[in-house]
Amino acid sequence: MTDRPIPVIIDCDTGVDDALALLFAVRHPGIDLRAVTCVAGNTDVDGVVRNTLTVLELAGAGDVPVARGAARPLIEPARSARHVHGEDGMGDIPGLPAPSRAPVDLDAVSLLRREILASPTPVTLVPTAPLTNIALLLRTHPEVVGNIERIVFMGGAVECGNATPVAEFNVWHDPEAAAVLLTAGVPITMYGLDVFTRVVVPAADVRRLRASEEPGTRLAGELLAHRPSAPDPDGDDPDGGLGDAGAVCAVVDPAGILTRRLPVEVSLAPGPTRGQTVVDRRPRPGEAEIHGGERELHLVDVALDVDVERYVKLWLDAVEGPQGLSAAG
Ligand code: BDR
Ligand code: CA
Repeated sequence: MTDRPIPVIIDCDTGVDDALALLFAVRHPGIDLRAVTCVAGNTDVDGVVRNTLTVLELAGAGDVPVARGAARPLIEPARSARHVHGEDGMGDIPGLPAPSRAPVDLDAVSLLRREILASPTPVTLVPTAPLTNIALLLRTHPEVVGNIERIVFMGGAVECGNATPVAEFNVWHDPEAAAVLLTAGVPITMYGLDVFTRVVVPAADVRRLRASEEPGTRLAGELLAHRPSAPDPDGDDPDGGLGDAGAVCAVVDPAGILTRRLPVEVSLAPGPTRGQTVVDRRPRPGEAEIHGGERELHLVDVALDVDVERYVKLWLDAVEGPQGLSAAG
């Protein structure tokens, strides 16, 4: 952890677990959340904007600027994950208030550019969604890379996909955009499915959060209850995966994940591998390199392991701790 808060911008598709990421980012004292940008993914982009504003308000975020971004991927059509995140993208939790704030009068790419260039110290960018906005930013305003410390993105998988057997949803949704991100020329951490699925808040903690009188903390509990790690036959006392929130934990506590710097490429070919993040873990060059010559390699710090208890505690302490209570007070 550092002493001075880390300037962070989150690009999200809120989304149940994006909401858990936002709650943490607002309430952790080590994060200076400078902006949030929205993109189509888990639900349509207008739904993402609404959900994001509601969550920020319940978290006590003040006037953090929020902008609407791309309504669909660069090439693919938009394909929501409503079967996972509910009709409203927020788990259809009853009684969620409509936001009282509006998004800024700027598109997401313009807000990203403005906030990255305005930050006195380099920004950490945390995409927890399809990478459409980020690709558009990098192609439209490449000068921003000079003031980006690192991109920590939730996406990809080393071992096993979810959208397809090999592709993770965020990368699969817009593979071309992910390919642009991977060649951004800034340090990148890939917080993929290999660690994403493992960080689960135990049922007793979820129960306590759901019983809280404080609206942001209670929302956190309701959202977690929508993300049980396994089907719960009774359905009334689930644990809950932190999902995207783990990527934000990795910003404030990078020592909580084990990473290896490895070449990563996105499969753009049509067919069963489209959207796969091909991570090269071979110990030595293979026949492809020997016969085909060296190719340019883009190295990424790939998260291979995570200290689950450490991230659960980090997240809980921030979301329901004194900072959380005063932020919402
Ligand atoms: C990713 O897809 C979305 O459903 C989640 O919000 C997360 O960002 C996991 O594949
Ligand atoms: Ca997401």
